[in-house]
Amino acid sequence: MTSARRVVSRGSDAGTRTLGTDPAATLLKVIDLKTHFRTERGIVRAVDGVTMSLDRGRTIGVVGESGSGKTIFARSIMGLLPKHNVIREGRVLYEGVDIIGLTQSQMRHVWGSEMAMVFQDPMTSLNPVMKIGKQLTEPLYLHLNMAKSDALDTAIALLSSVGIPEPAQRLTEYPHQLSGGMRQRVMIAIALACGPKLLFADEPTTALDVTVQAQILNLLQQQQNERHMAMVLVTHDLGVVAGRTDEIAVMYAGKVVEQAPTRVLFENMKMPYTQALLASIPKLENPSHTQLEIIGGRPPDLVHPPPGCRFAPRCKYAQPRCLTEEPPLIESEVPGHLYRCWFPVGTPEGDEALARNGQSGRSASGVPVNIDSPLVSGATRSVGRF
Ligand SMILES: Nc1ncnc2c1ncn2[C@@H]1O[C@H](COP(=O)(O)OP(=O)(O)OP(=O)(O)O)[C@@H](O)[C@H]1O
Ligand code: SF4
Ligand SMILES: [Mg+2]
Repeated sequence: MTSARRVVSRGSDAGTRTLGTDPAATLLKVIDLKTHFRTERGIVRAVDGVTMSLDRGRTIGVVGESGSGKTIFARSIMGLLPKHNVIREGRVLYEGVDIIGLTQSQMRHVWGSEMAMVFQDPMTSLNPVMKIGKQLTEPLYLHLNMAKSDALDTAIALLSSVGIPEPAQRLTEYPHQLSGGMRQRVMIAIALACGPKLLFADEPTTALDVTVQAQILNLLQQQQNERHMAMVLVTHDLGVVAGRTDEIAVMYAGKVVEQAPTRVLFENMKMPYTQALLASIPKLENPSHTQLEIIGGRPPDLVHPPPGCRFAPRCKYAQPRCLTEEPPLIESEVPGHLYRCWFPVGTPEGDEALARNGQSGRSASGVPVNIDSPLVSGATRSVGRF
């Protein structure tokens, strides 16, 4: 870690300060981050002005449908983007130091030792022709300058800590010799190898079956607690983040549309989009044949997003104002609860909008939600009563 702290210090912006030397600074502060792609069709606004911060040891869930910008948001913070045709603006303050202008070679000292990522599919992120041992010890040599015997001992301890039996034997094997769950455990071990303070887990369980999903989520949570690491848990599934995060940010079409402490979000959600996401996941107490609500329509084209609220074409609360005026991100009566909506759920304006559209039904707001129950993704998950 020493090398990371030395190399990334940056002239005018960082002054004499270096990463990892200011324990008083917020771990991560993202300010108005934009990440756009130049394409033949025009500019794709994948991340369009996101502001967010995360303290040490805390977990934020980033939730949204496919294409909402979750992965690009995480990759943009880490500087893991394509080399060409990318426009990246805004500020990414890591321990008070703006890392957005760092070069790839400077970022290489940050990856692994300060922040690391667990990807969705371990088969594509592990090198199929390299033994597990080599993949695990490489970052230890690179970032921590470990001697070979120390690196091997550490690799064995890491595999053991992520629940892999016979870890010494596994070091000599290739990824295809392991099950999907084991491969994801190896990915987590690699991500944790150099003791990062910030872990991004991007849909870490989507490729796994339901029981293994729960094990991997529990493992991430356990490692995070033991290491007092901060975590950004990216998922399309509100059920996954319900009992596992301190805070949730809901993304839609490249923007954060609602953000709140987890309990506040579930008990008092303001955005019709958050409400629709919640209604679209299965609940344990419903009979198995219960039809799930689907969110009609599709997310907007990010080259030509609609001029008003980006969710308007799909929103059952939408009014003429929503089509022309973009709602700003404002704070509710609860500090830290932000949302973008002209006709919020559970308010007189929202209820009137629903009634005007001929929609009935009680809003999700105020309905008790059991976010303390151990939640798992897939058929066995539950987010409370509706
Ligand atoms: N290299 C690229 N060039 C152009 N557009 C891109 C590129 N990478 C991503 N995008 C677009 O950016 C948007 C956001 O993509 P992103 O992968 O962040 O979505 P996501 O929320 O992670 O979705 P999923 O849940 O499917 O993983 C999408 O519209 C995607 O097509
Ligand atoms: S601003 Fe309008 S369209 Fe957008 S979420 Fe609120 S009610 Fe729906
Ligand atoms: Mg993604």
